[in-house]
Amino acid sequence: MAELMKAVQYSSYGGGPAALQHKEIPVPAPDAKKMLVKVEAASVNPVDWKIQGGIGRPLLPAKFPHTPGTDIAGEVVKVGSEVKDFAPGDKIVAWLDTKHGGSLAEYAVASPKYSVVRPSEVSPIDGACLPVAGLTALQGLTNGGMNFDGSFSGNVLITAASGGVGTYGVQIAKIGGAHVTATCGERNIDLIKSLGADEVLDYKTPEGKKLISPSGKKYDLVLNTASAVSFADIQPQLAPKGIVFELNPTPKNLLVAAARKLSLSKQRYNVLLLAAESRNLELLVNWVKEGKLRTIIDSKYPLAKAEDAWKKSKEGHAVGKVVVTVTEE
Ligand SMILES: NC(=O)c1ccc[n+]([C@@H]2O[C@H](COP(=O)([O-])OP(=O)(O)OC[C@H]3O[C@@H](n4cnc5c(N)ncnc54)[C@H](OP(=O)(O)O)[C@@H]3O)[C@@H](O)[C@H]2O)c1
Repeated sequence: MAELMKAVQYSSYGGGPAALQHKEIPVPAPDAKKMLVKVEAASVNPVDWKIQGGIGRPLLPAKFPHTPGTDIAGEVVKVGSEVKDFAPGDKIVAWLDTKHGGSLAEYAVASPKYSVVRPSEVSPIDGACLPVAGLTALQGLTNGGMNFDGSFSGNVLITAASGGVGTYGVQIAKIGGAHVTATCGERNIDLIKSLGADEVLDYKTPEGKKLISPSGKKYDLVLNTASAVSFADIQPQLAPKGIVFELNPTPKNLLVAAARKLSLSKQRYNVLLLAAESRNLELLVNWVKEGKLRTIIDSKYPLAKAEDAWKKSKEGHAVGKVVVTVTEE
């Protein structure tokens, strides 16, 4: 009989945290190209509960019941016959694919393609927070021209800088040499300044709503992580050749992006979808190891209380990352 493990699953769309069920299910078996990982810690991202809410219906998730979550740190316990770069005993950080998820469990199946070794200087919790939030922030900034060779000196705006993506985004933009303006609620202004933001706007003030830079700068690159902020809100403050990366792929935002592609304007508006790459995950892990990038933890919950982590993320007011600890406390 297959060995059993604890896992958190849901069996249909909708229902939020109350629909998460704690189960004992068989430990998954990795195919030749994958590896089995004993999960130390996982983190929750808005995409996890948005998939439960039906955002990718009917393609996501792959099937019900579904074990959600994509971000883990853990220890490799078994590798498929074609896996060459990892071995049992390796401590890793991995992004699991969105369709199959699997992070909210004692064991998960990871692909070497989206896994990197976790150095001892990076804690399992810090590692587990990096994949979706860190990779998305890095992807938006690099697609917007930041290449970390010292040549970027543009003005960057990061909205909802207190969220998982934003807390990494502010720091990565500073590593990349940008002048950073960030928006957040009043309670988080000092935190966001401590992450390196040059200017911080309270999003509830008139200037914050209009995204007006206190020093009058126009933005060359915008990472729009705040779902309440639209292209129309940003455009008056966008530089003539500025580019916006929109993180919320709503039908309306997709339409606006398509319309702008047809326009002659040099101000661009692109909807960003995460395309995970292990070399980017490696870059993030190294920045954490070198002390250049830190993770802001909103809260931690044991696997037995994963529904509380889900609820916390879904309420939309997390400051930094929401963590689920599995073996790691
Ligand atoms: N397209 C992609 O591939 C992709 C990838 C990753 C994330 N995303 C999306 O990006 C968004 C952000 O993700 P996340 O993980 O950073 O979310 P999060 O951690 O849940 O963000 C929560 C934070 O956002 C702040 N906030 C909310 N509305 C705001 C506003 N109008 N202005 C300024 N701050 C605001 C909240 O501050 P207060 O509590 O003070 O309100 C809170 O601190 C989500 O919608 C997520 O689905 C997309």
